[in-house]
Amino acid sequence: MNGLENKKNLTILAIESSCDETACAVLKDGVILGEAISTQIAIHKEYGGVVPEIASRNHVLDVDKVVKTCLNESGIDLKEVDAIAVTYGAGLLGSLLVGVSYAKGLAYALDKPLLGVNHIRGHVAANYLVHDLEFPHVALIVSGGHSALAVVETKIRFHIVGSTRDDAAGEAFDKVARVLDLPYPGGPEIEKLASLGHPSVPMPKVKMQNPYDFSYSGLKTAVINYVYNAKQKGVEINKADLACSFQKAAVDMLAEKAVALAEEKGLKSIAVAGGVAANGALRDTLTALAEEKGIKTYFPPKKLCTDNAKMIASEAYGQIRSGCDFSDYRLDASATLPFS
Ligand code: KG4
Ligand code: ZN
Repeated sequence: MNGLENKKNLTILAIESSCDETACAVLKDGVILGEAISTQIAIHKEYGGVVPEIASRNHVLDVDKVVKTCLNESGIDLKEVDAIAVTYGAGLLGSLLVGVSYAKGLAYALDKPLLGVNHIRGHVAANYLVHDLEFPHVALIVSGGHSALAVVETKIRFHIVGSTRDDAAGEAFDKVARVLDLPYPGGPEIEKLASLGHPSVPMPKVKMQNPYDFSYSGLKTAVINYVYNAKQKGVEINKADLACSFQKAAVDMLAEKAVALAEEKGLKSIAVAGGVAANGALRDTLTALAEEKGIKTYFPPKKLCTDNAKMIASEAYGQIRSGCDFSDYRLDASATLPFS
């Protein structure tokens, strides 16, 4: 018991700073009152990816402004906040530390409870803000740092059935984008380029011991080899076709495994979470494949797929209403964190 399980008008202020977005959101009784987000994408684009040291420094510059903007937007006073939630892992250690330290300071100053939230569980909870999901269901989690298939029993209990053996789905999109000289972040760029091409380049199909595990290294190597061989022969490659072929193979793998798991467990809905859930090809392919089997699919709106604080507030809400223990001031940032 934490004392807030049944609190009326439960108001949570959530902070997210695990990578290159500094974000804050206020949630009251499960409804978002306001949010603010400062993205560093333009800064890191120059380097072709996130530079951790630069990311931490910018979080320090942004966090206070972002929280104040969010409070303004929400139309509430800090005194009305019942609990402070903050992402404490997984992510970039320096970036996480900024949010965690700020949240601790705020919780101490306001004398309100502090709750450390798992970033990946936050991605899963993004769907609860917009969909009335039935439990249990299958969750397909596809971000820049994690790829996994899980059976979600309740809002706070799920177990992982498969995960990536090498790169995460988003990481594979970003790495292939680099090979194709596309800017950071690579996922949306691959998607744009792929829409101009055809899936004409053969891609390998990987067989895994656990059928619900993923692997992206074979696809990534196939793209690298294709580009290398073309260069050796002095042949011009069709980048749009290559992007389209990679995307199709990457997306098919996710969709087929998610539907197979739902069928095996007899579950009728699949919820998708994480940055790659914004991908249109994944949305279309999975929805079509699932529909054939009478399974419903749920995706957060695109803005809720990539990193944000609303999803952290949503996860905190589920935890607090379920009677979780709060964190104490020893809460520390953690670069890696199991998520079930
Ligand atoms: O969930 P997220 O915002 O951050 C992590 O927690 O990692 O995911 C970011 C990842 C990046 O790898 C990015 O390239 C990928 O999500 N991504 C996409 C798309 N939008 C973002 N991948 C494919 N298609 C997209 N439209
Ligand atoms: Zn994320």
